[in-house]
Amino acid sequence: MKNFFFDALGINSTNNLALHRFARAVGIPIDRLRYYNKCNKIPTGNDLQSIRETTGISEAELMIQMGVMDSRIRSLFQKNAKQIYSLIKPQIKNHDKRPSIPPLVYETKLGKLYQGDCLSLMKNMDNDSIDLIFADPPFNLKKLYPSKVDDNLKTGQYLKWCAKWADECIRILKPGGSFFIWNLPKWNTHMSEYLNGRLTFRHWIAVDIKYTLPIKGRLYPSHYSLLYYCKGEKPTRFHPDRLPMNICPHCVGDIKDYGGHKHKMNPDGINITDVWLDISPVRHKKYKKRNGSNELSIKLMDRIVELASDAGDVVFDPFGGSGTTYAVSEIKNRQWVGIEIGPVDDIVNRFENINNDIDHLNKIRKNINCLITKEDLKRRIENNWWTPDSVRKKIK
Ligand SMILES: C[S@@+](CC[C@H](N)C(=O)[O-])C[C@H]1O[C@@H](n2cnc3c(N)ncnc32)[C@H](O)[C@@H]1O
Repeated sequence: MKNFFFDALGINSTNNLALHRFARAVGIPIDRLRYYNKCNKIPTGNDLQSIRETTGISEAELMIQMGVMDSRIRSLFQKNAKQIYSLIKPQIKNHDKRPSIPPLVYETKLGKLYQGDCLSLMKNMDNDSIDLIFADPPFNLKKLYPSKVDDNLKTGQYLKWCAKWADECIRILKPGGSFFIWNLPKWNTHMSEYLNGRLTFRHWIAVDIKYTLPIKGRLYPSHYSLLYYCKGEKPTRFHPDRLPMNICPHCVGDIKDYGGHKHKMNPDGINITDVWLDISPVRHKKYKKRNGSNELSIKLMDRIVELASDAGDVVFDPFGGSGTTYAVSEIKNRQWVGIEIGPVDDIVNRFENINNDIDHLNKIRKNINCLITKEDLKRRIENNWWTPDSVRKKIK
């Protein structure tokens, strides 16, 4: 993030003496001024009043300079759009030039894998050509990726980069197509704001996975955010799987009291909610396709691909990693387009051994779209617990 706050106030951020003088003049502790600047936050209350009175800057000008606009300023921009555009037109760069297409490194019956920068590939993809896009970018957590991409960008740089690839994703998405972004809640709040102006919000799905150790002074981060948007008013594909009801893993008995409503429960399972509690991180060596921790579970991708695409549709994922999206798409008869900026050996190996993913996926799918899994049903009958059949018979 640049020094928008200090620049707006005419403070040189490297001149400590000037900063101290300013802090004294406005009566705001220096640490708080630095926070406003570092995090690009508009001061409020007494701090704002004091800055206004001391410097003469208005709140509106401060907001414009810092790029944090409220609805008043936004609507003034809209009203004066013609004049503002003619003022900035000479500075707007022309991005029409297409970079060359990254090399195609692997092909299957249904998919194409490229190696290089996803932006270069997307710039060469047609408008409105993809049915489902899933993006799992680096989270800017200073991780070392095999591709050695810079995972320690300044906040502003990272968000600018995210907006660039999101723009291309939005352009190539078909009307009615779905766009999912997997990221930390911290980043997805920004992505959500960006997407709200361009696509239709469907869900913020909280996927319950602890992704770090407890941090002092913070709540224990326990969910990843999965943003789900569609292009246009509603998605053309929407077939969520249904899940088994929660039962006690030890005695296979009920955890919740369903009272007199058991017979009304859908034998195909429970409606999926926007909180997903059943996705585990890929830790087991048997299932891991690459070293390190940035590999998504096949169960997660299966759910998304099933929910938002049909066989024959085209799925795109701009951040290949170990190729989870591509493998699931191939298995489920979707066409796919993939790209990875770093080594692609993990993806190619995965496809060479795709039977492992097929077996794994079959196991996963065997236990969904039913109210009680086959295995649990057997144990429930043995333990005299109700089953969908037994409650229905009683009602008859
Ligand atoms: C979080 S991982 C994706 C993991 C993937 N979803 C999986 O399940 O294996 C992000 C990946 O994006 C790749 N990447 C980063 N910047 C990229 C870019 N500009 N173009 C293409 N790939 C990029 C990284 O090398 C990394 O492998």
